[in-house]
This record gives sequence, C-alpha cells and structure tokens, in this order.
Amino acid sequence: MIRVCLVAGARPNFMKIAPVARALAACGVAAEIIHTGQHYDERMSQAFFRELEIPPPLVNLGVGSGTPLAQTAEIMRRLEPVFLEQRPDWVVVVGDVNSTVAGALAASKLEIRLAHVEAGLRSFDRSMPEELNRIVTDAVSDRMYVSEPSGVANLEREGVESQRIVLAGNVMIDTLLANLEKARAVRACERFNLRPQEFALATLHRPSNVDLRENLQAILAALDETSRRLPVLFPLHPRTRKRIEEFGLVASISGNRVSVIEPLGYFDMISLIDAARVVLTDSGGMQEETTALRVPCLTLRENTERPITVEIGSSRLVGSNTSAILAAVDEILAGPPRFGTVPAIWDGHAAERIANDLCAQ
Ligand code: UD1
Repeated sequence: MIRVCLVAGARPNFMKIAPVARALAACGVAAEIIHTGQHYDERMSQAFFRELEIPPPLVNLGVGSGTPLAQTAEIMRRLEPVFLEQRPDWVVVVGDVNSTVAGALAASKLEIRLAHVEAGLRSFDRSMPEELNRIVTDAVSDRMYVSEPSGVANLEREGVESQRIVLAGNVMIDTLLANLEKARAVRACERFNLRPQEFALATLHRPSNVDLRENLQAILAALDETSRRLPVLFPLHPRTRKRIEEFGLVASISGNRVSVIEPLGYFDMISLIDAARVVLTDSGGMQEETTALRVPCLTLRENTERPITVEIGSSRLVGSNTSAILAAVDEILAGPPRFGTVPAIWDGHAAERIANDLCAQ
C-alpha cells in the first residue's frame, strides 16, 4: 500500500485537499494530512475541515503567522521529524502558499517523491509571493498535476519533460461541484437581507492591494462608489482588517451600503458567489469559482496566473484604479448576468485522475 502525506496550511489549500484525500482513500492509498498551522483562526481553518468533511490532520504543526521567511523556515523545520517518522512514498502539496513551498522543499531535501497539485500556473510577476512559491515548488516536484492548459505550456517552456506533467483538471472545482447543491441550500444572501442577482460580493487580501495604502484606499473607494449602484457585501480577511485599521481607512467604507462582515465559511461563500450580480476580488480561487459558475468577476489585479478565467471564463482584469473598476462595474451591470465558458476539464473529476495517476507510479 502506498503512503502519502498531504500538506495543507492556508485557507485555499483546504478545499483543494478535500477531494484529493477522498480520491486517494478510494484508491486504497494511506493518506495522512499534515496541517502546518499557517492559518489558525476557526473561520480560516477548522470551519473548512468541518464543512467539507476533511479527515482530521495527523498533526497540526502550529506555526502561525510570521514574516514570510520565518513562516516558511519554521514549517520546514517542523515538517522534518514528521516526514522522517512517516516515511511516505509521496508528499503531495497543493496551490502556491508558503506551506506549499515549505512542504515541497522539505520533501525534496529528504528525498521523498513530490507531487504538486495546481502546478505550472505563472503570473510572470515575481513581486507576488505566490509566484516564487510556484516556481520553486515546480522546480523540485517529480510529478505535476495541472489545472489548465497554460500550466502545461509554462512547464514545458521551463524544460520539464512532458511525461512528468498531467493535465488533470481543477480540484478546487471538484469541491465546488460536489458541494454546490448543499451551498445553494444555505441561501446565505437572505441572511444578509440581499436579493439574488442584486448585490456585489467583494474580497481583498493580496499584499500588493492591501499592504500599500494608496492601492487599498483606491479599491475601497471603488467599493464605496459601487455601493451607490447596488449593495456590496465585503467579508474581511484578517490581513486586510489589520491594514484598514493601521492606515486609518475604516471611515472610507463605513458610509453607503458596503457591509463589512467576518470571513465566511465555504458553503456561505459559494452560496453568495452563485447568487451575486458581480464579484470583485483578488483571490485566485474565486476567479476560478466565478468562471465555473459563469458569474461576472472583476479581478482586482494587473495580471493572473489563471489566464483561462479571462480568455474563456467570466473574469476580467481591472487592477486597483478606482475609475477603471467603476467603469467595469457599470459595463457588467449593463450586460448579461451570466456569461463565459467553463473549461472542459473542470468537470469535477480532477482528484480521481490525480489519485489514479499517482497510484500507477
Ligand atoms: C495566504 C497565502 C495566499 C492566500 C491566502 C488566503 C502565502 C504567501 N499567502 O495569505 O496565497 O491567497 O493565504 O487567505 O502563503 N491571520 C490571522 N488569522 C489566521 C491567519 C492569518 O489573523 O488564521 C493574519 C495574521 O495577521 C497574518 C496575516 O493574516 O500575519 C497574513 O497571514 P499569512 O498566512 O501570512 O498570509 P495571507 O495573507 O493569509
């Protein structure tokens, strides 16, 4: 029986490991989840294990927050004894967060075979912390599972042999499709007194948007203006909350109809994305979820490592300029409520393809 350690640590990892853990178990693989503890708030971590019925982790390394270097180094330091004791045949890492690159480096230095789920994505913007994490993780991976065709092209261009690359599809969308009916049933918008298709949903957490006062202020101004057109629901990431307070920007979103709320659980978030008239976000996962649901999405970034969401999906890059965001909001509101094409391989079966491939190695 092959033994796998699945490393996860931050919120977007959890919806990605859920179907992978399930598919590996269905193939008879002994898969243990190692939680790094990068995210630790109930609403950023445990809530997802509960809702998505993810098996409890073997261990939570409890690294918590820190500078990017301290956090990454600490995760590696704490993973070493776990990997040495578990001696897995494979370590599987997902996505592009600090826990991903730390898991990748730890596995490869201990000469454990490494698989990366969501490999090959590139924004070509090295000032983005996730871009370095992606490049380094792929450089030390033995097997690479890719979610969209651009990822295959990027890896081949970087010299990866094509036998090590599998265009497997999107595990985040596996989780979305598996839970969509349940999520729709929670009717989250009613709880916030919003009518389907008559509100905007906004999220924001990228350092390039929230750690620079100027950009944060410009985006908050756009949300405030948007709220004159339709109500805006704004679940606030802890990093963004901290910055809004530090920069003295609380007042800039407390007028009009921007409703600032705590981070949401998975079902609530999917229920709201599905019901929204427009989503404004800098989240990579939400770019994909809106594409899968054909919900108009304004991506508050200059570039994306997920080009398919812009090329055939419902997402559009709008950056952080107030008037550019508003012009795009107005165009969306004047256009159809749903549009775009869902990528063919985002069919809900990516994790099964990954598990079958891994078992055949
Ligand atoms: C991380 C990922 C990012 C991902 C995001 C989703 C990296 C480099 N970035 O960014 O790719 O899109 O997660 O959320 O790995 N905090 C809490 N409670 C928590 C977690 C964090 O209060 O449970 C606060 C802390 O003040 C912390 C800050 O948020 O310093 C940032 O957390 P961190 O894990 O460093 O990065 P994220 O911004 O969450």
